[in-house]
Amino acid sequence: MSDGPADLGAALDAARTTLARAVADRGPGARHVTFATHSPDGWPEARTVALRAADLDAGRLTIQTDLATEKVAALRALPRAEVHVWHPETCHQLRLRCEAGLRHGAAVGAAWSAMPASARTSYGKAPPAGTAIDAALGYEVTSDPDSFVVIDLRVIRFDFLYLGDVHKRAIFEDRGDWQGHWISP
Ligand SMILES: Cc1cc2nc3c(=O)[nH]c(=O)nc-3n(C[C@H](O)[C@H](O)[C@H](O)COP(=O)(O)O)c2cc1C
Repeated sequence: MSDGPADLGAALDAARTTLARAVADRGPGARHVTFATHSPDGWPEARTVALRAADLDAGRLTIQTDLATEKVAALRALPRAEVHVWHPETCHQLRLRCEAGLRHGAAVGAAWSAMPASARTSYGKAPPAGTAIDAALGYEVTSDPDSFVVIDLRVIRFDFLYLGDVHKRAIFEDRGDWQGHWISP
């Protein structure tokens, strides 16, 4: 195990790599991140999602979801979220504070058309996601394009933590480019 990033530039590079791997890696645990919102009545809500795209330099992340899920209601009420990534091989944790926008309908028509039929089954259930049902499999998959939502996230700040033999923690804020400073971990 190394001593982690030698300087803030190396920490920023490590954050870029961690996000790129979260999008690209197919191995166990690598591709899925935690997405946290606030419920409309103020409860924290965290769940696993697939990170579909990430461009840290542009401050953009992309997630896909079903219109009926609680995260959509949460973001309509308060369009703020945190994305959490932990990469056990590199010992890097990222916590990314984001502003969220929702796209669906015609705005995501091209993405829906490009999606394989197997992936479309994640969008649209009857009754809708979150509805009480009499038995565990008492629902149908509808693959409904009207249920497909893209969540566009704009990263405004992130917390980088290296948890190796030594611990290093930095905060980066969007001031046109990423400006970072170390903090005590
Ligand atoms: C490995 C894994 C990957 C998942 N990927 C997604 C995803 O990309 N989008 C999504 O909406 N839910 C995904 N889920 C399901 C969510 O964790 C969650 O159960 C669902 O979105 C409903 O959450 P909500 O009602 O709190 O919004 C995934 C779950 C697991 C275990």
